[in-house]
Amino acid sequence: MTGLLQTEAFDVEKVRADFPILKRKVHGKRLVYLDNAATTQKPQAVIDALVDYYSRYNSNVHRSVHTLGEEATAAYEASRERVAKFVGGEPREAVFVRGTTEATNLVRYAWGEKHIAKGDLLVSTRMEHHSNIVPWQLLARSRGATLKFVELTPDGHLDMGSLEELLRESPRLVAFTHCSNVLGTINDATAICAKAHAAGAVTVVDGAQSVPHFPVDLASIGADFYAFSGHKMLGPTGIGVLMGKKQLLQDMDPFEGGGEMIREVFDDHSTWNDVPYKFEAGTVNIADAIGLGAAVDYLTALGMDNVRKHEVRLLDYARDVLSGVKGLQVYGPEDSQQRSGLVAFNYADVHPHDLATILDEEGVAIRSGHHCAQLLMRCLDVPATSRASFHVYNSYDDIDALKQGIMKAGAIFKV
Ligand SMILES: Cc1ncc(COP(=O)(O)O)c(C=O)c1O
Repeated sequence: MTGLLQTEAFDVEKVRADFPILKRKVHGKRLVYLDNAATTQKPQAVIDALVDYYSRYNSNVHRSVHTLGEEATAAYEASRERVAKFVGGEPREAVFVRGTTEATNLVRYAWGEKHIAKGDLLVSTRMEHHSNIVPWQLLARSRGATLKFVELTPDGHLDMGSLEELLRESPRLVAFTHCSNVLGTINDATAICAKAHAAGAVTVVDGAQSVPHFPVDLASIGADFYAFSGHKMLGPTGIGVLMGKKQLLQDMDPFEGGGEMIREVFDDHSTWNDVPYKFEAGTVNIADAIGLGAAVDYLTALGMDNVRKHEVRLLDYARDVLSGVKGLQVYGPEDSQQRSGLVAFNYADVHPHDLATILDEEGVAIRSGHHCAQLLMRCLDVPATSRASFHVYNSYDDIDALKQGIMKAGAIFKV
């Protein structure tokens, strides 16, 4: 380790000490974890929150009047409050789900099946993760609607002209990502929501790659639905959030039927619980919701402005270091201010899987493949890319290790 850890945003060495997994070695080398867009590592505080729940007050929520049940309910609901506040939303508008994928599917079923009719237009974009495309394809198929896509500009932004053109066709739904998981592009969610609403559409924003990396304020964005995943923001797997406007949530049909989502059950029909409980059928993921609350506390203590500042420093450093590598093509906007903390690239003719395998031998974990964004891969005219993605514990050293691994692959493949 050198003195290159300090990014001026916070002390990375101190942050790294909070993540036990970073002490392990891979193939005898220091673990350099650069696959944060896939999932992030967990600080001890999150692990402790899970252990504390299971070892001290494990119990079901919203049911039992005994002490453990009350404690578990209080912790689960306190977590909902913290998570909603973290993104500038209201707790009653925060539905706990499994993740972003479940959130978009919930909207597809509970809002879409009720409100979309034959001939309606749905709009998504060519930079989406499949979880913000496939549910709308399924919805279009089941309701006889049409799905169209906002095109991209050559520098990796949404083509606003293409969006405007589609909005003139009065779509019922506009679904787009706040931040691309491949290009890193940060979209102006506030402006797009305003335009879509003016055209009469309901907006669904994928926040999977934004909430973990920079401050998000739903009060100013104004999205009708906004989804994100706990595991990409230092929290546990299997928990995420769908933020939805109360009026829309109240008007929607339930997603799943079962315990706790009802008010009364009769022979031939049932009535529904208040939101958000109407959408949380059965025994919920109590432990992981509490763990997500701990992750939010951890990020809040660091400060999301600092997290963003840190990632911009890493992006600038990565651009400087990697610009000298012959044959390396980086995708997405050049300006670090317009992108999030990830770098997707191709290196000469080296297949991304080969590169990722060689990097793994050096202890460097990156992702290779289509990143669940095949429409985008077609726009880039490549089958796959490599992707290095950052979070709070990454340092300049990690980027140096990435470059060294790339150079090693270059030597092996004679680039
Ligand atoms: C932009 C984006 N949207 C959605 C998802 C899906 O998230 P999850 O698998 O947690 O549902 C991902 C995951 O990689 C993503 O990067």
